[in-house]
Amino acid sequence: MFGDGNVYSLLKRAKRFLESKGLSEPESDVEVLLSFVLQTKRSKLPLMRSQKLTDIQVLQYERYILRRSKREPVAYIMGLAGFMDFEFKVNKNVLIPRPETEILVETALKIAKKENKNSVLDLCTGSGCIAVSLAKLGKFKDIMASDVSGSALEIARENARSNNVLDINFVKSNVFSGISGKNFDIIISNPPYVSHEEYDALEPELKYEPEIALAADDSGLFFYKKIAGKAGRYLNDNGFILIELNAYKAGEIKQIFSTCSYKNIEIVKDYAGLPRMLKAESNSLMGN
Ligand SMILES: C[S@@+](CC[C@H](N)C(=O)[O-])C[C@H]1O[C@@H](n2cnc3c(N)ncnc32)[C@H](O)[C@@H]1O
Repeated sequence: MFGDGNVYSLLKRAKRFLESKGLSEPESDVEVLLSFVLQTKRSKLPLMRSQKLTDIQVLQYERYILRRSKREPVAYIMGLAGFMDFEFKVNKNVLIPRPETEILVETALKIAKKENKNSVLDLCTGSGCIAVSLAKLGKFKDIMASDVSGSALEIARENARSNNVLDINFVKSNVFSGISGKNFDIIISNPPYVSHEEYDALEPELKYEPEIALAADDSGLFFYKKIAGKAGRYLNDNGFILIELNAYKAGEIKQIFSTCSYKNIEIVKDYAGLPRMLKAESNSLMGN
């Protein structure tokens, strides 16, 4: 498709090809995928403009560009995604970690340090990006990470191993059903929160991600209601809940948590100014 080009001409032709397939800003995609093929940093490409690729590298690059032309996300093509400066394996069984989720990890680390909290449950762990980042960056004594998907948990375990984290307790659990007899100082979660109507209208890239990682019943509120209703029983006194928000339903979600008697409920905005995280504290009556 692209012949035996050098870096400059391959990038130019790949970009033109993706534009012809309707991708609006393919510059970053073509560069990220080429630097992946060459196992080099993207920032080095301008210095390598006249370097020729081997036939095998050209073939591999063409395959990747073809996949991207069918709107497959770059992270799935590479099988890798970055989160909190760590590298995570990803495939079609797990959501690709998003930068906006980092705010949950940063907040949990701050709370743990300031309030001397040392146990955490990551509900709906997916790739394990939250739990593994907490283990790398915090001083938690007890980290549990759960998901209903066995294939997601396999990836999460692999990500823990590849990041040299050995002490996360991974549990298969439908929300809280498999978390028995344990309490935590912090419950953190990025649950599925897209309504089925919103899901149908999502970009083709998002349709490569597992539907169970994105879509939720009850207009996308199912997990907020479930977690708000039950988390109190799994939190220690003065425990914290940190949950990622569907930015367009922040008011409704805050109301759900208020009705369940959490205190000090706060909505925190992300760097784009959108309401991204709800932070709340348990109330001593909740465990009953
Ligand atoms: C939005 S993804 C979050 C993944 C990861 N924590 C992140 O932030 O990238 C939601 C995760 O919830 C899991 N999930 C869906 N339904 C669930 C359920 N009933 N109980 C537990 N986990 C569930 C999915 O398998 C998916 O891994």
